[in-house]
Amino acid sequence: EKGGYEHFMLKEMYEQPKAVRDTLMPRLDDENRILLDELSLTPEQLNHLKKIIIIACGTAWHAGLVGKAAIEKFVRIPVEVEIASEFRYRDPFVDERTLVIAVSQSGETADTLAALREAKMKGAHVMTVTNVVGSRISREAQDVFYTWAGPEIAVASTKAYITQVMALYLIGLKMAELRAQMPQEEITKIVQELKELPSKIQQILDHQEKIKELANKQIHQHHAFYIGRGLDDYTAREGSLKLKEISYVHSEAIAAGELKHGTIALLEKGTLVVAMATQEPLYDKMVSNMKEVKARGAYVIAVTKASLEKEMQQSADVVFSVPDTLDILSPVLSVVPLQLFSYYMAVARGADVDKPKNLAKSVTVE
Ligand code: M6R
Repeated sequence: EKGGYEHFMLKEMYEQPKAVRDTLMPRLDDENRILLDELSLTPEQLNHLKKIIIIACGTAWHAGLVGKAAIEKFVRIPVEVEIASEFRYRDPFVDERTLVIAVSQSGETADTLAALREAKMKGAHVMTVTNVVGSRISREAQDVFYTWAGPEIAVASTKAYITQVMALYLIGLKMAELRAQMPQEEITKIVQELKELPSKIQQILDHQEKIKELANKQIHQHHAFYIGRGLDDYTAREGSLKLKEISYVHSEAIAAGELKHGTIALLEKGTLVVAMATQEPLYDKMVSNMKEVKARGAYVIAVTKASLEKEMQQSADVVFSVPDTLDILSPVLSVVPLQLFSYYMAVARGADVDKPKNLAKSVTVE
């Protein structure tokens, strides 16, 4: 059932181009307009909204962070992203002018379900982005957006994550259209770029040999630090979680600008730093952060986009680039090398990749 792949995780990473296509294409018409029957709110209700809260755990929470950036950019409405297990314990500001989006691959995560119930009780409109038809969260939400990633078996979430991010882009763009927040041509331009993502993910998968070699050389590491700014910070967090979860290498993700406020004290000669630098406006700032860590002897792997690769070579020990896309869409691409890196680290270290110790695929206790 692994279809010839050594692990489910590898198979699922390879399924990402299809998962993205399956999530995107049924929601577009021939003119690239977004059809989104899943969103039952009327334009009037949408105009009346004060804020959006995204609730989720783990990797789904990271998808929420990217979703916040996208929705705020497209819709110009404040979005909070809350860890589901924290949401209920601070009497959150939620009312009928709040839209709550619960993001959950399994649709069974206890904390996410409980947070959704709390929001519903307080009068919010509750929506879910989930991968499992008929899951508990899908039954309790008022609107359901299914990610069509197909069953995800490996504990480490890969294709579900990418489709969650896609879902939040689509929801944001549709809301921008309904609230007349963006001109239709601009929305269509972004949709055209979304349609390019599957083949760009495929290109990354086709060039994974370099990442495998890189991982094989880093298996001695006990610690890793992932840094980035803006959207790259969110991808860094996802990459870091993936590494810990399956390879058991301690890892920390820090917003790059925060490094010198404490964490840089931990760097020594040879410490592994993965630097994410896909965002053009933040590029120079990232390069100066990379210089800071290199000056302390860190071994720096940079992930950037193709058009910046050459420049980046001066600032990192190794550079891996992903195809260019719109800055806002780059998380869908830049996460892939990080997934592959953690996968090959785990394999090389002899870990049980699909079933890491102490973890369950869905966490049904609070
Ligand atoms: O099923 P869910 O999306 O609600 O699960 C949330 C987290 O438990 C999950 O994303 C977890 O962090 C993954 N194992 C990460 O790879």
